[in-house]
Amino acid sequence: MCEKCKGKYYITTPIYYPSAKLHIGHAYCTVATDTMARFKRLQGYDVMFLTGTDEHGQKIEDKAKEAGVTPQQFVDDIVTGEKGVLDLWKLMNISYDRFIRTTDDYHVAAIQKIFKKMYDNGDIYKGKYVGKYCKPCESFWTESQLVDGKCPDCGRECVDAEEEAYFFRLSKYADRVQDLLENTDFLEPRSRVSEMVNNFIKPGLEDLCVSRTSFTWGVPVDFDPGHVVYVWIDALFNYMTALGFENDKYDDLEKFWPADVHFIGKEIVRFHSIIWPAMLMSLNLPLPKKVYGHGWLLLDGGKMSKSKGNVVDPYVLSQRFGVDALRFFLLRTFPFGSDGNFSNELLINTINVDLANDLGNLVSRTVAMAQKYFGASLPQVQQGDEEKDAELLAMAGSLRSKYEEQMEKYAFQNALAEVFKVISRANKYIDENAPWVLAKSEENYPRLARVLYNLLETVRICGGLLSPFMPQTAEEIAKRLGGAAMDWDSLAVFGKLPADVATVAGPALFPRIDVEKELAELEKLHQEALKEAQPALEIAPYAQENVDFDTFCKNDFRAVKVKACVPVKKSDKLLQFTLDDGTGTDRQILSGIAKYYKPEDLVGKTLVAIVNLPPRKMMGRESCGMLLSAAHTEKGEEKLNLIMLDDAIPAGAKLC
Ligand code: MSP
Repeated sequence: MCEKCKGKYYITTPIYYPSAKLHIGHAYCTVATDTMARFKRLQGYDVMFLTGTDEHGQKIEDKAKEAGVTPQQFVDDIVTGEKGVLDLWKLMNISYDRFIRTTDDYHVAAIQKIFKKMYDNGDIYKGKYVGKYCKPCESFWTESQLVDGKCPDCGRECVDAEEEAYFFRLSKYADRVQDLLENTDFLEPRSRVSEMVNNFIKPGLEDLCVSRTSFTWGVPVDFDPGHVVYVWIDALFNYMTALGFENDKYDDLEKFWPADVHFIGKEIVRFHSIIWPAMLMSLNLPLPKKVYGHGWLLLDGGKMSKSKGNVVDPYVLSQRFGVDALRFFLLRTFPFGSDGNFSNELLINTINVDLANDLGNLVSRTVAMAQKYFGASLPQVQQGDEEKDAELLAMAGSLRSKYEEQMEKYAFQNALAEVFKVISRANKYIDENAPWVLAKSEENYPRLARVLYNLLETVRICGGLLSPFMPQTAEEIAKRLGGAAMDWDSLAVFGKLPADVATVAGPALFPRIDVEKELAELEKLHQEALKEAQPALEIAPYAQENVDFDTFCKNDFRAVKVKACVPVKKSDKLLQFTLDDGTGTDRQILSGIAKYYKPEDLVGKTLVAIVNLPPRKMMGRESCGMLLSAAHTEKGEEKLNLIMLDDAIPAGAKLC
């Protein structure tokens, strides 16, 4: 370890399922982890920040089949393709040190060794998986996974089934895991502990089925062909294989294991706080120091998904509001351990209030005044502190320790609240000292310089402490302060900014957003995206019931020629046709196709009508038959085409 380093710090995100493109909820955990990793680097730690993708399992196999590609091609596209996982993390400034894909050869080989080790030590054994099977989905379920006794995926009936499978002796570790959860700080927030103990451990921890034979896209059990390793075993060990456990690709295990913290979403706490430690216990390996189960970002109170349109698309949001604003919003608005309701309105208001008004204004006004009154740089000699300055100086000088205390607890929202208390105080300090009044008389210039210095120094400290959250903004603030230092030590002491600081002017850091206009624009984009997400082509399902031949033959289909076609008054649907049906008497048919055709375009066309339907009154007019059309849906929009015949076919010709 380097001499200057405070120590090592290993932090991870969950590895993502590349079964669909990621949404802002996925970015939430990664942004939080990145912020923590940057904070630890700022403090002087030697950090390892791991993220990656969890690429095996039936879901991926099914999705690939649907898309007509191999599972590997499918995941490659979502991970490395345009606007894929790697692109997204680059865009969002995610400073990971290592990226693992569970399809990487070294990981696959390591998982095979790990599985064999647990088999050899007797903690994995072969047995029979008895449960429920959904034939159309080819999925096994336990009784408790069923919803109303039916398949939780497709809602159809399941049948009793048995499958030969390997099991991990999870039950053997129940007491040790319970002790770990109840008597240590392993799992946080502490509120999640009772849920794990009461819902999963106390009712009796059953052995865990850890192999599958019903699909092939997984790590093969090398000593028993046909079995693939359960995806969660494969996934959880990523935290160690990425450091070199059971492989030669990396050599950081000794340095970084055990992990300082795994950040994960609340729904995967069970895997990380029960199954993961039990497996490590089985292999006599050190346990991670902490698992933190954060809350969820919800949309309209419900689960977030990409199919809800682009309101949750991190690309769209970053493009419109900027990456730093988005990162900031995620951690400023919601307490990390609880759920939070995402909305565009909340996002825009946070940007306007905190970033445009409070932070942005403080930086612009302070730099602009320094430039206006003193030009290139502040004068060297400044008078000492005054009582009027005491509060601001004390707040800015003690900010780092208050912020640090919150950050160490992963209380990002509280850490930011501390910074913004100081920013607000600084804005108030401007009004209290009214630099524009001081500037009226030359004898006040030393005081004016002091006021501006105090403000610039407050901006430096706040900017530095914001850097883990908003790295680009912090860099820009440092530039405006003439390349001011923002290292950890300097952020603890008020007065590290050189007295003759040379400021640099620039545009507003966060321009104010017109809420109404922006919301309307986002809604428009959202509707377009929803339309785009609709299937390209939809056709009506085929009739389930057969019609007997004689009944069908009773239909009398005839070629008819359009003599006249006019819209029906007071109806936006109906067109009234006057048709030559070959009988010598005009036939009138009303048809609800006004949305699709201009009446004048149809005159002279040869169409198909069913002519032996009983006459019907529509809008007070009689309709004797029906014109035939073909209907389908394209991108959610209904389309309709009248069946048109060759004009050489005479009116009245029977279709058979
Ligand atoms: N592949 C597993 C993790 C394996 S770790 C050994 C997985 N992947 S996931 O892609 O489905 O989810 C990744 C993370 O994103 C999870 O921690 C999950 O909680 C988080 N989120 C997904 N949607 C979310 C929100 N709407 N809000 C916050 N986090 C959410 O689980």
